[in-house]
Amino acid sequence: MSRTDFTYVESVSPGSGRRGPRAALDSDAAALALDGDWRFRLGAGLHDTTAGFEDPAFDADGWDLLAVPSMWQMHDLDGAAPYGRPAYTNVVYPFPVDPPRVPDANPTGEYRRAFTLPADWPATGRTVLRFEGVDSAFAVWVNGTLLGDGKGSRLPTEFDATGAVRPGENTVAVRVHQWSAGSYLEDQDMWWLSGIFRPVSLVHRPEGGIEDVFAHASYDHRTGLGTLRVEAPEGARVTVPELGIDIAAGETAAVRVEPWTAETPRLYEAAVATAAERVALRIGFRTVEVDGGLLKVNGRRILLRGVNRHEWDPDHGRTLSVETMRRDLEVMKRHNVNAVRTSHYPPDRRFLDLCDEIGVWVVDECDLETHGFVLHEWRSNPSDEPAWREAYLDRMARMVERDKNHASVIMWSLGNESHTGQNLAAMSAWVKERDPGRPVHYEGDWDCGYVDVYSRMYADHAETDRIGHRTEQSTKDPALDAHRRGIPFVLCEYAHAMGNGPGGLSEYQRLFEQHERCQGGFVWEWIDHGVRRRTEDGREWFAYGGDFGEPLHDGNFVVDGLVFPDREPSPGLVEFKKVVEPVRITVDPGPRRITVENLRDFAGTGDLAFEWAVEDDGETERTGRLDLPALDPGNAAIVQFPSPVADLGEPRGERWLTVRAVLAKDEPWAGAGHEIAWGQARLAAAPAPAPAGGAPAEAAGSGYRLGDAAFDALGRLTAIGGLEIDGPRLDLWRAPTDNDLRSWHAPLADAWRDRAAGLDRLEHKVLGIEADAGGLTVATRVAAAGAEAGMGAVYRWTRDGDRLWLTVEVDPEGAWDLPLPRLGVRAALPKELDEVTWFGGGPGEAYADTRAAARVGRFRSTVAGLQTPYVFPQENGSRIDVRWAVLSGGGRRLTVLGAPHFALTVRPWTSEDLEAAKHRTDLVERDRLHVNLDAGLHGMGSAACGPGVLPEHRLLPRATAFTLGFATGA
Ligand code: GAL
Repeated sequence: MSRTDFTYVESVSPGSGRRGPRAALDSDAAALALDGDWRFRLGAGLHDTTAGFEDPAFDADGWDLLAVPSMWQMHDLDGAAPYGRPAYTNVVYPFPVDPPRVPDANPTGEYRRAFTLPADWPATGRTVLRFEGVDSAFAVWVNGTLLGDGKGSRLPTEFDATGAVRPGENTVAVRVHQWSAGSYLEDQDMWWLSGIFRPVSLVHRPEGGIEDVFAHASYDHRTGLGTLRVEAPEGARVTVPELGIDIAAGETAAVRVEPWTAETPRLYEAAVATAAERVALRIGFRTVEVDGGLLKVNGRRILLRGVNRHEWDPDHGRTLSVETMRRDLEVMKRHNVNAVRTSHYPPDRRFLDLCDEIGVWVVDECDLETHGFVLHEWRSNPSDEPAWREAYLDRMARMVERDKNHASVIMWSLGNESHTGQNLAAMSAWVKERDPGRPVHYEGDWDCGYVDVYSRMYADHAETDRIGHRTEQSTKDPALDAHRRGIPFVLCEYAHAMGNGPGGLSEYQRLFEQHERCQGGFVWEWIDHGVRRRTEDGREWFAYGGDFGEPLHDGNFVVDGLVFPDREPSPGLVEFKKVVEPVRITVDPGPRRITVENLRDFAGTGDLAFEWAVEDDGETERTGRLDLPALDPGNAAIVQFPSPVADLGEPRGERWLTVRAVLAKDEPWAGAGHEIAWGQARLAAAPAPAPAGGAPAEAAGSGYRLGDAAFDALGRLTAIGGLEIDGPRLDLWRAPTDNDLRSWHAPLADAWRDRAAGLDRLEHKVLGIEADAGGLTVATRVAAAGAEAGMGAVYRWTRDGDRLWLTVEVDPEGAWDLPLPRLGVRAALPKELDEVTWFGGGPGEAYADTRAAARVGRFRSTVAGLQTPYVFPQENGSRIDVRWAVLSGGGRRLTVLGAPHFALTVRPWTSEDLEAAKHRTDLVERDRLHVNLDAGLHGMGSAACGPGVLPEHRLLPRATAFTLGFATGA
């Protein structure tokens, strides 16, 4: 039987011929995975389909083979890309907005495969064909019999194949359409990709089997009792051997249990069985409620240290292996992440199994976003159109029914950025009835008429503070306004992690700790959705919007994660780890005390060991273990410095005491010794080096000489001893970051490049050079073409013994009403000086508002290792609070001394190279190293989507002097 009726593609109906939604269950019923190679043909649209392809007799041997699950655009991108290419848009729909119609150019994949029904496949009961995810609409045949059609890309669909399947050889055929009416509901900020991208299986449904299970497992923190009641077919028995529970479906058991929390993910193996089928469950007992204006689990307020997670794999798009899912959770847990919002669709069901097991709070979000409608006021948003109601309710039901047995899921989210309207309210009403055990989340309902928590995205610090005080702006309806003011607050998105940044995390965290109503949030977002590519000579790079020639795209806005596309943590994640650490260690040198606070919500500190180390000038003097009682959540201990610390002799340089909390034993997500938190303090300062005395400077050739330092006619340093330096000169520029380039208001980079400032094209004018008995003084003025404002910069060079000193006095002249990217000097050095050792902040990069994770110590890196591989090149790599740094290699070395500190950046290319590059592979090493020695750095903020740099982290132009020392000896 063939189907030429394609009306389902543009129908708002969620599907036909489908079975009702039910829980994802681990059953002993027969099942057959249908993953693997399928025959595949891609047509250009409904006009280009293969009549009769579903017929078992059809010969598809000449067709390509395509892996299921996979996304067809992700294949062979460096070659012929036979199935089209990924396309990225954020808000805008990539097709004319004319719902429910979609373009004729509608890539349509025809899939076919044969399978053999196992000989022992039961002859009774039903046989069901299950799809975990197909993007975006599809129709299904078995042996030529049409089973039905479906939509809802990130949701499961089941068809009854009983009448169509036969013993022995069978054929399954699926036609998948890239665009459908469903696409209007799937306008998430991500790559448009298509296909059968999650597993497919044939599952047996025995007669008298367990079609669905809803396990209600709550925990009463007052009594310590867990209560279990399982909705399952009549006659089913529920057993939890470890708890001695053996009850009938529908009955209630209350027993003493260890509760489930994200910090203590205690699961109990359970079974639900009838004579015909046995289903394995893992039960976590916990109670989620909004109580007294707070979101509580097991009676306690929780603090969400969360991330928004899209499913992304740089090679496979949204098809993820279980290993990749596990890796995400491991990297999260290692960085103190305790919550995931599944932005903006339910994840692969196996991810939630891992969340239960490893322990994170999950906000499970429905596959719904109609963001693009904001651009079309005259088209009403589907969220308020009765015609779409069924589609909305269908999506909600399919998520909730699939995921309802997961302990980790603590809130249901209706979707994202779909405006507001009756269909959303209906979803909420339905779920409150179906599952009163979980609060409802949706950010778009600012009135909070149909949600249980007040959720916002990118509210700045000041507004978050007002919300914390419950003094936020009123909304129209006084009753709703009062309701909203009484409920908990979460930032479902904040701290946009695009490129270098996000800045301002520490300040958000302070608000979350200060206001009990502010229960944390979810950083936007977990991973950069870069697509892995290779240059012809094999160098890896990551593509973003526009790189596949899309006519309409949103560039690198898709690359805004805390981990790079290859899942390596970015400095933003390292900063987040420090800012949200669940144990706070404060080292107080005055009273010689260490305070340890347990900031967890449920777990004690018995799983942690505390280690201390004293370092002088970054070299270890003594280490030991700190004896601490295990602390209950919310408790703190204060202990005196360990006696060996007190007994240490005179410091050899600057002395620091660092205390670290590490895992005492292996956890499923990290090994023993993994660091959770740290604190440090300086016990003894060392006198900062300073220029002493002087030596005469004199004219030499066309330039000047000061000891073994040579200067050119313009007074620029050209060499110290035998080491060529292309003189340190004032530098105010940085390759703009994403946060500098984009903003809801006026991008900072525009002001920097504006005619009046011209910070990207400064000219240096020598006003006078004086060589005298004290040294060399070079007076300059630095300003841009067309600009009146400028900076006076005076360089005072002195010599003391074998050290050359430079004091730079900077004086803004004229109207400067904008922050500077940086304030310091830049110089070029020989390429061989490739090894960098420094004593100061590290090991990673840091800027004014991203410096929590920088600890004082001695660090070492190659120049390559100092570069942060942002997918879109931009300012990166600065190390702050550097006391001294040694650059060495090829038998040569240069020491740079701070008086007292400077920020150090060393690159094989210039800021201008970084600025010009669009991808990492555009960066070509130069024959010199380019070094910035900075007295100040502007913060990063989060302006690409959110607030800019807080006032205290802005680098405002003011008269400044800073001093640096140079030496080339050993
Ligand atoms: C939010 C949206 C996210 C993402 C983010 C910016 O408005 O919910 O999906 O687009 O902005 O990266």
